[in-house]
Amino acid sequence: MQTIRPEIEEFELSGIGKVAAGALDDPDVIPLWFGESDLPTPKFIRDAAVQALDEGKTFYSYARGTMPLRAALKAYLDRLYGIDLDPDRVTVPGSSMLGVMIAGECLVGPGDEVILVSPYWPNVRQVVRIMGGVPVDVRLDEGNDRWRLDFDRLEAALTPRTKAVYVNSPSNPTGWIMTADEQRRLLGLCRERGLGLIADEVYHRNVFAGRDPAPSFLEIAGPDEPVFVVNGFSKGWAMTGWRLGWVVAPARLVEPMEVLSQVNSTGANVFTQYGGVAALEGGEDFVRSFTARCRANRDLVMETLGRHPRVRLTAPEGAFYAFPRIEGMTDSLAFCRRALKEAKVGLAAGYTFGDGNESHVRLCFAIATERLKVALDRLLPLIDGAV
Ligand SMILES: Cc1ncc(COP(=O)(O)O)c(C=O)c1O
Repeated sequence: MQTIRPEIEEFELSGIGKVAAGALDDPDVIPLWFGESDLPTPKFIRDAAVQALDEGKTFYSYARGTMPLRAALKAYLDRLYGIDLDPDRVTVPGSSMLGVMIAGECLVGPGDEVILVSPYWPNVRQVVRIMGGVPVDVRLDEGNDRWRLDFDRLEAALTPRTKAVYVNSPSNPTGWIMTADEQRRLLGLCRERGLGLIADEVYHRNVFAGRDPAPSFLEIAGPDEPVFVVNGFSKGWAMTGWRLGWVVAPARLVEPMEVLSQVNSTGANVFTQYGGVAALEGGEDFVRSFTARCRANRDLVMETLGRHPRVRLTAPEGAFYAFPRIEGMTDSLAFCRRALKEAKVGLAAGYTFGDGNESHVRLCFAIATERLKVALDRLLPLIDGAV
């Protein structure tokens, strides 16, 4: 008798987790596998959380987020995008990961197809599967100067069962930033076909080309459209360990979002939310300096890996990953395991980012430039002989 749902029994670690398993604590490994830098969260943000703890902010609070954080989010998003957001649309359930899950809970039912603009962050595929939905990849095309979304191919992938589209911009792993025109076109298509949209904008402040912040669906979607804009503190303010993010949901879902937040987490950890307020109100200098570091590192990666005769690498416009294709390499997991063993560099295997990525690896270039240089020097001989 099948008691556990088969889709759950089939779950395996991603091609990030599989490489990293067992080597996380090895001090000789330079970790480029996860999506974070080696910078601790800025002190003024930590201080705000410590103060909240010292003041006894250790109780349950609103499941959709504390009042100060939701007010600060409204002020931040209004300022950033020149909008007037209804603060009731903001929910802080915990991490952005949980925000994507809740958006999936709102949009995806058994048998529903969900278009995933790929290459994508692997967790999102599992969200669709947990909900009993069917992930359908639509891969970006890798042009010489930038990645591009082929709308004809996207339309061709739609069926009567298609329920929603997930898109992440700036993108993990490609660094693609969707232009405002591309966003308008996608939103238009969703409107025409009655599709929901999950817009994952967690890298909105990690921008090297064009406007900071990256264009957002918050600027163009109406307040009651089935659009969920997910964002968080991890990537902009070096707060990955805090597990703090937010969702802007359709206006009519205020109560349902409260219920979903209740049952998933009963809201984000309360004292961390005070760190979130500090980040939003005083974090611009950090955002700028972190972007400058990542931009310099991006340039370093382009000058080294990007020029390698066996590598094809489109310059990332945002986020903080490079997603090179290595000619002649056909097993990304095996390559990453070799990189770990022989070069002591932690990479993420390309296959895990959707179909068609078996010759790619992902590396996060947000760490200190000197360490990144060492990692690249260690990797180049492996790429010379890549098989
Ligand atoms: C595209 C994307 N969305 C969401 C997340 C989750 O972020 P958080 O740490 O806030 O859960 C990540 C983390 O790597 C990501 O790359």
